[in-house]
Amino acid sequence: MDKKQLIENTITFVKETLKDAEGGHDWFHIERVYTNSLAIAEHEQVDMIIVALGALLHDIADAKFYDGDESIGPKKARIFLESQSVSTEIIQQIEYIINNISFKNSFKKNGDQLDKEIHITKELQVIQDADRLDAIGAIGVARAFNYGGYKNRALYDPNIEPELHQTKETYKKSKAPTINHFYEKLLLLKDMMNTETGKKLALERHQFMLTFLEQFDKEVQAVK
Ligand code: ADP
Ligand code: NI
Repeated sequence: MDKKQLIENTITFVKETLKDAEGGHDWFHIERVYTNSLAIAEHEQVDMIIVALGALLHDIADAKFYDGDESIGPKKARIFLESQSVSTEIIQQIEYIINNISFKNSFKKNGDQLDKEIHITKELQVIQDADRLDAIGAIGVARAFNYGGYKNRALYDPNIEPELHQTKETYKKSKAPTINHFYEKLLLLKDMMNTETGKKLALERHQFMLTFLEQFDKEVQAVK
């Protein structure tokens, strides 16, 4: 099958699979990550088909919507790609991307000193940057509050301080108000970008979040 047809079939599959997804993890999130991945990849030495398929399939079954089960995403991607007669080699790279793209997996594994981020492939770096860009800026603000609403979290609570999580377990268990997520994760992302293009694109979005938080604090203080 030619590459164009494969991409088209993948888009159809992803749209169908995510038709009832939470607003921050729906087809339009995938489309933004896909577009930004291709733009970042222009400046990197990467295999474009891996970048395209990885971006399109990276959230096909995000573990947080499947009771923490991290095996469903890679499995769904594999079954789909096998149905398209994609080679085992490419399938393995896509599974690797889905397994390692997440912020929570950037924490050091309990007990060992291995920081996974050191070993990541260029294709994963590109898609991870595009995914992180979508978590910050105006779209990042919208997604964070949508996710908080979906989880019935408070917008803010002055009695609950942000915590900097040291492990994947405490990060995943957090039930903190949505505003805390900015201090716990979103403001950290600009310094975690992998590529030069990603770093540049993150700056304006980061600045916008600071402006947003400053205004938010001002308005919240005013009602006390
Ligand atoms: P990862 O899976 O890479 O660890 P997430 O899936 O947690 O990252 O983040 C994806 C997006 O979901 C975030 O950018 C944010 O918009 C939203 N999100 C995740 N966790 C929270 C949270 N605790 N509060 C608000 N938004 C969240
Ligand atoms: Ni994503």
